Amino acid sequence: MSEQDIKVPDLGGADEVEVIEVLVSKGDTVEEEDPILTVESDKASVELPAPFAGKITKLSVKVGDKLSEGDVVGTIDTDSAGGGDDEDSGEDKTGEDTDKSKDEAAKKELEEKDQDAEEKKSAGKDDSGKAKKGGGSRKETVKVPALDGFENVPVIEINVSEGDFVGEDDPLVTVESDKATMEIPSPYAGKVDKILVKEGDKLSEGDDLLEMTVEEGADSGDEEEADTGGAEEETSDKDEKSDKADKDGKGGKDKDRADTSEDTQGDSTYQPPTPGAKVHAGPAVRKLARELGADLTKVKPSGPKDRILKDDVEAYIRQNLKKAQEGGSVEGAGIPGIKLPDFSQFGEVERESMSRMMIATATNMQKSWLNVPHVTQFDEADITEMEAFRKGQKQAGEKKGVKLTPLPFILKACAAALEELPQFNVSLDMERKEVVRKKYVHIGIAVDTPHGLMVPVIRDVDQKGLWQLAAEAQELADKARDKKLKPAEMQGACFSITSLGGIGGTAFTPIVNTPEVAILGVSKAAMKPVWDGEAFQPRLMLPLSLSYDHRAVNGADAARFTNLLGQLLGDIRHLLL
Ligand code: COA
Repeated sequence: MSEQDIKVPDLGGADEVEVIEVLVSKGDTVEEEDPILTVESDKASVELPAPFAGKITKLSVKVGDKLSEGDVVGTIDTDSAGGGDDEDSGEDKTGEDTDKSKDEAAKKELEEKDQDAEEKKSAGKDDSGKAKKGGGSRKETVKVPALDGFENVPVIEINVSEGDFVGEDDPLVTVESDKATMEIPSPYAGKVDKILVKEGDKLSEGDDLLEMTVEEGADSGDEEEADTGGAEEETSDKDEKSDKADKDGKGGKDKDRADTSEDTQGDSTYQPPTPGAKVHAGPAVRKLARELGADLTKVKPSGPKDRILKDDVEAYIRQNLKKAQEGGSVEGAGIPGIKLPDFSQFGEVERESMSRMMIATATNMQKSWLNVPHVTQFDEADITEMEAFRKGQKQAGEKKGVKLTPLPFILKACAAALEELPQFNVSLDMERKEVVRKKYVHIGIAVDTPHGLMVPVIRDVDQKGLWQLAAEAQELADKARDKKLKPAEMQGACFSITSLGGIGGTAFTPIVNTPEVAILGVSKAAMKPVWDGEAFQPRLMLPLSLSYDHRAVNGADAARFTNLLGQLLGDIRHLLL
């Protein structure tokens, strides 16, 4: 037996890559150059080929491992090589030369892709005049950049739709050579006007890809997006895109494809590949799968050459949610689902896909409901005097262009209560068995929008006055309704307020917005007879429903919290102290 180490070749400039797929198992016989691992740098995913033909005798690598040049990932018994050895007998298969030539090939592949990505990035910056600020826009035709020396590379996925707004470097289309999958990034930030290619088209350097309107100065927003990770904005953006596509009918093709894909996700004849088997998917699809927690080996591909598309991942998630509703078991949930009857037996029904935002909200609500032992404390605050004062400010509000509703008073009272009872201003880190105490007071406000519930965050509520809080709440609620919130504006809350006071109701049990540990529900204030010790007095009473995580907060503290809110709102002079 002649065992040879399988070493990671020079990674062409990338210090470290992550293993995203192990394509072979111990005992497998491989030909030289057969792909054995798929690795991903921050720019490209590449398959590492077997340096020799033979039998895999050891494999010491798993998905998620980080690899650098020279790492040994296994061994191959080259004596067990098939006929390929004979054919190649003139070559030194086990010698350094072969090893080196494989190293060189993989190095070149990664190097060229990285270089190309860098070139495209800097070309994009120069061309788009990123340094230019201020208004104005211009039309640009985006062309296919250098494709690692390849020509006629098929488009396997189009990542944008006409009308979409994209940031610089956002993937526009995915192409696949016979060695690697590459995303062609946008050299500009702007709006996609016209897509000039379709799936299956073969592209070469210099071909026209799409037409864009480039907003000059749009780069600042991008930078912010990059700073904040952009995950949540991506959700709302995508939602916006699909809304738009649905409205103007351009989403028809995607929609059909998603529907088809969803149907096939439910196809009981589909046999997922065995663990460790090869999964074809581009970096953007893999990223989406990681974000949504989808196991790609279980997703049925609908793209060319069994490639998994974004639609397939989304359809897989939808299918799992549907299964949960219908009583099927969902990966990882571990709880029985709710079986749905066939509603059509009772009358006409129609079904529509959930938006990404709805899926995200449903997932978060369920996570919180299942993980957090909820208790709700009900109370009332006498806001008779507060309301008299608030109404007295109507004219001042009109002058400032700000409407003073009860919400800013409630925000201020909650900030004071969080300072007085800091056990509400914490998060629990159950993994490390630690309580995270926050020294800042940022409060989320639930906003009801036509596209779903959003919770923008007002920062440093303890340091702001009523007018400022009123103006910020109004501005954030408007932005939420116009889908203009940035991810940073929805992050970092210590506590949330959900006010249904403008709508109605007497009490409700809000769900804690984890990892916060409490949320205040506010219902509609109503005049009530209140006994003052001698007689009933008509008082305006504001119903409060404080839901809390009983792991972090005990019932006595919850009662203290709502008592304190009652005192602060009952006599708002306390808010000044
Ligand atoms: N009792 C009585 N009236 C109330 C009240 C209360 N608790 N809270 C507000 N109002 C009044 C306001 O004063 C205003 O009346 P006016 O026009 O006569 O002055 C009216 O109700 C509408 O107020 P609204 O525009 O809703 O402002 P707000 O500052 O109270 O609330 C939002 C702002 C963003 C919180 C609110 O619009 C919203 O979206 N609420 C829904 C949140 C939600 O869906 N939560 C559920 C999560 S599960």
